[in-house]
Amino acid sequence: MLTNMKQEILNAKKNKQAIPQFNINNLEWTKFILEECQKENCPVILGVSESAIEYMGGYNTVVNLVKGLIKDLKITIPVSIHLDHGSSLESCIKAITAGFTSIMLDKSKEILEINIKETEQLIEKAHPNILVEAEIGPIGTTINNSKYTNFEDCKELVKTKIDLLAPAIGNKHGIYEGQAELDYNLLEKINKLDIPLVLHGASGLSKEDIKKCIELGIVKINYNTDLQLAWAEAVKKYINKNKEEYDPRKIIKSGEIALKTVIKEKINQLR
Ligand code: G3H
Ligand code: ZN
Repeated sequence: MLTNMKQEILNAKKNKQAIPQFNINNLEWTKFILEECQKENCPVILGVSESAIEYMGGYNTVVNLVKGLIKDLKITIPVSIHLDHGSSLESCIKAITAGFTSIMLDKSKEILEINIKETEQLIEKAHPNILVEAEIGPIGTTINNSKYTNFEDCKELVKTKIDLLAPAIGNKHGIYEGQAELDYNLLEKINKLDIPLVLHGASGLSKEDIKKCIELGIVKINYNTDLQLAWAEAVKKYINKNKEEYDPRKIIKSGEIALKTVIKEKINQLR
């Protein structure tokens, strides 16, 4: 069932649980993710970056692919199609027109005034049916030598009536070098703004970190790298063992079990 996930996010917040966002790259990944989430009876947000959209053929292709799989695989769990790190209003509008149910506009690298202004413009086009996520602070980088968001900026951005806020709390995309340094005091403070919070860059974080984040108001958790690492390792092993194989279906599918295993593990940490 395609949904914007609003109700599920509010329920998760009430029950101190989180909903996973798993990023998709192609038909097979989308199918494997939907199958595993259905098996686990877990609502899922399919995150699609602009580069993945381009890779897959375009905004309409992504929406029709997901709708087709939901129908053919008889998927009954709530599923949302989410533009991940939308870079411009233009891209967000293309996603809305194609049928995405949830949009992230990432203006975190701009000054606060621009982030607020463009987020407000998006909300005008998206609400009430489509969810809007905004990012604040330097996720995976630094602003004024800090890798943490400014609390006052969060307060201002939340006034735009966004549905979800993704703050920089020491999280980063990709592989963490050493131990992640998440600022739980900052997260606790931001949580008092009473807005559903998103954790980007969840790959590589410990079970304990994830648990603590959920306790402190994180309701949407984004995973990509850990899925890619597990899938790629399994496929490389398969190719090494089956040097003569040339059927792309067998090669791509050889990462299925590894991918589904990580998905299951992640889901079990969220509830
Ligand atoms: O927006 C996507 C995520 O934040 C994924 O981060 O690749 O570190 O898991 P990750
Ligand atoms: Zn992200």
